[in-house]
Amino acid sequence: MIPSILFTVLTLLEHVSAVVTTKPNIVIMYMDDMGWGDIGANGNWAKETPNIDKMAKEGMLFPSFYSAAPICSPSRASLMTGRLPIRNGFYTTNRHGVNAYTPQTIVGGISETEYLLPELLKEAGYKSKVIGKWHMGHRRDYLPLNRGFDEFFGSPNCHFGPYDDVETPNAPVYRDDTMIGRYYTNFTIHQGLSNLTQIFIKEGTDFIEKQAKAGNPFLLYWTPDANHQPPYASEMFWGKSRRDSRYGDSVMEVDYGVGVILAKLKQLNIDQNTLVFFSSDNGAEGIAGKNGGSNGPLLCGKQTTFEGGFREPGIAWWPGTIRPGVVTPQLGTTMDILVTAVGLAGLDLPSERVYDGIDLFPVLSGKVESIERPVWYYRGNELFAVRVGRYKAHLWTWSHEHYDFCPGEYVKDVTTPDQVNRTANPIVFNLDNDPGEKYTILKGSMFKEAMSLISPYLQKHRDTMVRGEPALNYCDRMVMNWAPHGCEAIDYCLKGPTESSIKLCGWDH
Ligand SMILES: *[C@@H]1O[C@H](CO)[C@@H](O)[C@H](O)[C@H]1NC(C)=O
Ligand SMILES: *[C@@H]1O[C@H](CO)[C@@H](O)[C@H](O)[C@H]1NC(C)=O
Ligand SMILES: *[C@@H]1O[C@H](CO)[C@@H](O)[C@H](O)[C@H]1NC(C)=O
Repeated sequence: MIPSILFTVLTLLEHVSAVVTTKPNIVIMYMDDMGWGDIGANGNWAKETPNIDKMAKEGMLFPSFYSAAPICSPSRASLMTGRLPIRNGFYTTNRHGVNAYTPQTIVGGISETEYLLPELLKEAGYKSKVIGKWHMGHRRDYLPLNRGFDEFFGSPNCHFGPYDDVETPNAPVYRDDTMIGRYYTNFTIHQGLSNLTQIFIKEGTDFIEKQAKAGNPFLLYWTPDANHQPPYASEMFWGKSRRDSRYGDSVMEVDYGVGVILAKLKQLNIDQNTLVFFSSDNGAEGIAGKNGGSNGPLLCGKQTTFEGGFREPGIAWWPGTIRPGVVTPQLGTTMDILVTAVGLAGLDLPSERVYDGIDLFPVLSGKVESIERPVWYYRGNELFAVRVGRYKAHLWTWSHEHYDFCPGEYVKDVTTPDQVNRTANPIVFNLDNDPGEKYTILKGSMFKEAMSLISPYLQKHRDTMVRGEPALNYCDRMVMNWAPHGCEAIDYCLKGPTESSIKLCGWDH
């Protein structure tokens, strides 16, 4: 009798401790408009990202890590859902192949039928916080606390401005569910000088400390937007970059933040139980000029489906589990983070929907060198390109007829100013030899090899695609941030239009 009770108790204990130790904390560091070539680990000449580079040395560097979109809102929606924008609805059908996002006039937001990462992890007891830029809808139903997060500090919108609060409201800043001020007027950004990144760093370390003390597994989604134009930095870094730009200063400051957060994990002795991913929402923006970053040798940038638009810095860090200093050949995507995290939490993915991410744990833990998988390059409602292995096939090409998304770069038949349908005769590149997409492969044995690898994935993708309802078609000045929740308490509500002027949004890129 006694031995059997003891046995049961021991098994129970064992079970409990196994469950606890197999639930690592998840930290996602997601930069804004930072390019592949902005970090020292990927060859940036200024070498001003010592903390990010150290993270890569202590962890795993993915030279081929991809976003799900070349623009912020759909990229973020895919990070949080593990699904392509075409499935989760973060796209528009107003015009063929254009990018859409969530300006203050957007009516929609991330669909209620999507499961976000914090919502899924909650079932395994995780506490979650998002810090920085949300960008998945600013109307109340779409805000972080109504979509699974326990805490929020930051803004639902970009830090565009300053605005006059008459024609356009300055973007609100929230703590959790309540507005506490606005960018520019209360949270100062003045000629590229701001303390916001420092505030975001402190919010991050405070949250980590609180959850570590309480013994909760946690998800921290840390997404400062200082690198988005107009970039900003605090006095600690203002004017310090060798790159001689505010953008360079802002990169130095987010790099500093990466160092502070990783040091906090080590100090609390939870680094061996925390998986940290570092990436960016889309490539550096060519038209931003000096206010934008670097995509290294990659073609074009933000807004486009060339490598400069989609390929991001990618680092995974988990001391004790990820072998230090590995540069992996694995093609990764930001959507893999959700799938990997859900698996590590001991949960199953909802079975009734398609996930575009894959579980990277076998690669992170060194059990498997790499997993073959496709990478999809959508621009709006159209699939522009697909990569499998070393080959990428362009089904559509487009830079832009009005905007110079590829400044100083021109590749014949590739950076076409107009949308060109190449589906019948795709343009192929071997990205291992030609990451800059300059030497087109149009026929011959290499072309055949590429298409025989890619075609089956493409066929299956098309045959099984179920498109989400497009969430980014309608705009209305009435829905702007005139009077966000909590504005009365701080006496900062603004008077907006009292009548709706809903119309199709005029997306043009
Ligand atoms: C925020 O700024 C506005 C405009 O300058 C000001 O009226 C208000 O008092 C400030 N609110 C807080 C909470 O600092
Ligand atoms: C940033 O914080 C420092 C220290 O509190 C303060 O002196 C400075 O005025 C702040 N700068 C801005 C731009 O808010
Ligand atoms: C692009 O070309 C393919 C193959 O010729 C064709 O099936 C498809 O309808 C075209 N797409 C559009 C939007 O014109």
